Amino acid sequence: MVWVHEDGLDVSETRQGGRRNDQLSIREKVIDLIRNKATSLPTLPVIINNIIVTAKSDSTTANDLARFISNDQALSARVLKIANSPYYGLPKKIDSISRAIIVIGFKEIISIALGSGIFKALTPKSKDVLLDMNELWKHSIGVGFASRQIEMTTKKSMEESTMLVGLLHDIGKILFLIYFPGDYSEVLVKHHEDGIPLYEIEQNLLEIDHSEIAYMLMKQWNFPDNISIPIRYHHRITDCPFEHLNRTMIINAADYLCQSAGIGHSANINPERKDEVISALGLSAGQIEELTETMKACRDQVDSFLEALS
Ligand SMILES: [Fe+2]
Ligand SMILES: [Fe+2]
Repeated sequence: MVWVHEDGLDVSETRQGGRRNDQLSIREKVIDLIRNKATSLPTLPVIINNIIVTAKSDSTTANDLARFISNDQALSARVLKIANSPYYGLPKKIDSISRAIIVIGFKEIISIALGSGIFKALTPKSKDVLLDMNELWKHSIGVGFASRQIEMTTKKSMEESTMLVGLLHDIGKILFLIYFPGDYSEVLVKHHEDGIPLYEIEQNLLEIDHSEIAYMLMKQWNFPDNISIPIRYHHRITDCPFEHLNRTMIINAADYLCQSAGIGHSANINPERKDEVISALGLSAGQIEELTETMKACRDQVDSFLEALS
């Protein structure tokens, strides 16, 4: 049996020669985990799955979406809480999904709904994980905030779902923590000992890094390319297809900004500053300093966004 990814990702047969699961590499186990429907891979709530399918259809109207989300009380309450959080900075409180769609936009509301559904699906129930999940989510929300700040500073047109990409960019680490805690603790120890970038140690020890595992999961969940591809290449910019390069560079720079401003914690002890990315985005050293200060001032906003998601 062969499972070939549509964009050429090599995830072909992993159980070659009938090898037992304990003989597979972590990379092979990950592929097996994502491919095998019988595993306990986090599944998206039906409503979130339906939103992804609905959002892809050209015939979906704002009314359809509003009805859809409003039918799920818990989801609509979270969407409204996020829409009213300081990230959107709206002057008046929004109290209905249809109003939120008018004020914030159809696609952005889809992003909020997806982000909150995935946050719920991927937050481990047990507190017994190697990393502080709240800190990892704060880092991820911070990357969403910082990406938006970079878009404003560089006067690039505001992209839809900037926050969603930030929120999801490191979810591969959560998958490692849930499914391969022993192997991942070795990765973390080595990162602390050697200071080599985390994604490189993941690649060396596990043969797959957190951005690729996240990408595989997002393909499985049918996410659109404008979200999954920038996440796949957020540490390996030079491999990124040109049409997704701008957003990918923004996440990379936002990741650095957030870590140097001390927003949350992503297990990375050495934030990697890529000067070629910063200059390709048109950011000066002074603007980077200003953005770092802006991010430091965003701490409360990040906390309230996390609270709205939870
Ligand atoms: Fe990352
Ligand atoms: Fe990150």
